[in-house]
Amino acid sequence: HEEFTKVKNIAKIELGRYEIDTWYFSPFPPEYSDSPKLYFCEFCLNFMKRKEQLQRHMRKCDLKHPPGDEIYRSGTLSMFEVDGKKNKVYGQNLCYLAKLFLDHKTLYYDVDLFLFYVLCECDDRGCHMVGYFSKEKHSEESYNLACILTLPPYQRKGYGKFLIAFSYELSKKEGKVGTPERPLSDLGLLSYRGYWTRVLLDILKKHKGNISIKELSDMTAIKPDDILSTLQTLDLIQYRKGQHVICADPKVLDRHLKAAGRGGLEVDVSKLIWTPYK
Ligand code: COA
Ligand code: NA
Repeated sequence: HEEFTKVKNIAKIELGRYEIDTWYFSPFPPEYSDSPKLYFCEFCLNFMKRKEQLQRHMRKCDLKHPPGDEIYRSGTLSMFEVDGKKNKVYGQNLCYLAKLFLDHKTLYYDVDLFLFYVLCECDDRGCHMVGYFSKEKHSEESYNLACILTLPPYQRKGYGKFLIAFSYELSKKEGKVGTPERPLSDLGLLSYRGYWTRVLLDILKKHKGNISIKELSDMTAIKPDDILSTLQTLDLIQYRKGQHVICADPKVLDRHLKAAGRGGLEVDVSKLIWTPYK
């Protein structure tokens, strides 16, 4: 695709209280693409070339959170589900914004076909977007996540793992296994590896007796291939007497768990009010 070779166009954006340096090219409409900086409404994600336009916009925009249903609230964290078909402009704006931080994804699918899960930190001024992931309404390949982004000012605080955990909680409610769309970025893969390692090794540590990949998959909604590759990468699979055996030496598991980083923010499933998309 053409956009792979294009150089970064917009260098900075303003979003809520943050000015953020961008990472990659994003295919904004031509009239915006020569601006060094774009000004986003942090609620409806409309973007403008001048600060005064944004100020005028903020006086009349009545949104204080993403359009769509709040499906999760715990403390100051809320998750909104936005249907790309019902909120096309919002979905497109979110894709333009996200592409600024995503290298190799082509995001210009029909937004109609996607749901957007937008994570916010809420205060008395409104719900401020921290990050999001998108999900196809119907995936033939059992993808439970298409794109994931934590906005740079919020990165490395556990929100990425929260978003990943959330995507698997939705899969559990659907009674399906899921996997992220490929290719994953380096940071995406690191985050997934950390998540998978933590979830699987926590189970292995507590579990008594034998456990199969299938059972692990049923418990976690993680696709068997991803379980196998995670355990293989950690060198926890042995082939003995014609069978795959998962090593569960508590000392070895603890060492890997320590290396897998922090657990991230927990998803409190009791706060998730959601039924699968029909
Ligand atoms: N350097 C090294 N490791 C990093 C890292 C960095 N800059 N950022 C994340 N990681 C790794 C760490 O292992 C981290 O766990 P730890 O902090 O406990 O060590 C783990 O990834 C996840 O961290 P977390 O804070 O939960 O994730 P995040 O909120 O920073 O979000 C992404 C992770 C991938 C969503 C974020 O980096 C991002 O939006 N990147 C740009 C978009 C992208 O690449 N998306 C994936 C495309 S498929
Ligand atoms: Na992540």
